[in-house]
Amino acid sequence: MSETNENETVQPVTPDKGSTAGAGVAGGGAGAAGAPLDKGPVVIDVRGLRKTFGKTEVLKGIDCQVHAGEVISIIGPSGAGKSTFLRCLNGLDTPTSGSVVVNGYDIADPKTDIDKVRAQIGMVFQHFNLFPNMTVAENIMLAPTLIKKVPADKARARAVELLRTVGLEEKIDANPESLSGGQKQRVAIARSLAMDPGIMLFDEATSALDPEMVGDVLQVIRDLANKGMTMLLVTHEMAFAREVSTRVIFTDAGVIEEEGTPAQVFGNPQSPRLRSFLSKVL
Ligand SMILES: Nc1ncnc2c1ncn2[C@@H]1O[C@H](COP(=O)(O)OP(=O)(O)O)[C@@H](O)[C@H]1O
Ligand SMILES: [Mg+2]
Repeated sequence: MSETNENETVQPVTPDKGSTAGAGVAGGGAGAAGAPLDKGPVVIDVRGLRKTFGKTEVLKGIDCQVHAGEVISIIGPSGAGKSTFLRCLNGLDTPTSGSVVVNGYDIADPKTDIDKVRAQIGMVFQHFNLFPNMTVAENIMLAPTLIKKVPADKARARAVELLRTVGLEEKIDANPESLSGGQKQRVAIARSLAMDPGIMLFDEATSALDPEMVGDVLQVIRDLANKGMTMLLVTHEMAFAREVSTRVIFTDAGVIEEEGTPAQVFGNPQSPRLRSFLSKVL
């Protein structure tokens, strides 16, 4: 699990066949906001990423290196390409050109086993898609037992542990339908974590929730940040982004328009488009 963060270079981490997900979780609470963390190994290396749907170019050349332990908030107007960017990181969308390398795996390379990459990146969406015909425990145990062949008793023990970390231990045998939106989303996070990903992606994880549910889900994300989980979060929760991020990226019209520490981006925005955006959302 432990990573040395002394590596000054920005070389991608060489794939290690023996460990699926170790890279990405930096040792020791790296996610403290305001302390830019760019010394760890690069776990995601995006170069010249372009994505076109039909005639629409949605991503117009994105360059981004994510270091182990970084917590990156991606902000920007609707339609900027934020979701498409996240989807390109775990192969849900295929880049039109450019490269995306995750823990040393080039996701565009046909020789790359995309399932292996996906096992290293957990993703939580706006709409928690829990399987309604399974209990909470079964939802969490499904991927580890099916894909990683973890024995059921071990997978259940891990599910208990994960539910404890999201504050829902007592719901282990509940039916998802009986849960509130915020509880469902926390189960969805636990389900993602069950594969022991080194990187977590959150795409507006709190946008569909009633306001009183938002805090509990943000707390789970905050706890992950404090444990040093490498994360990219698309969020409209600006106060949260400011608090929890090591870096904030502002995207607009398919490009990274500006990025920096939370203090820089929120406190001293340079680009007129970022200033205009912030004037509407703050
Ligand atoms: N599968 C798709 N087919 C066609 N257009 C798409 C598809 N996915 C996204 N788009 C378009 O790409 C643009 C950016 O979308 P998206 O990445 O969802 O932006 P954001 O998450 O920043 O709101 C939008 O104009 C959207 O309509
Ligand atoms: Mg989106």
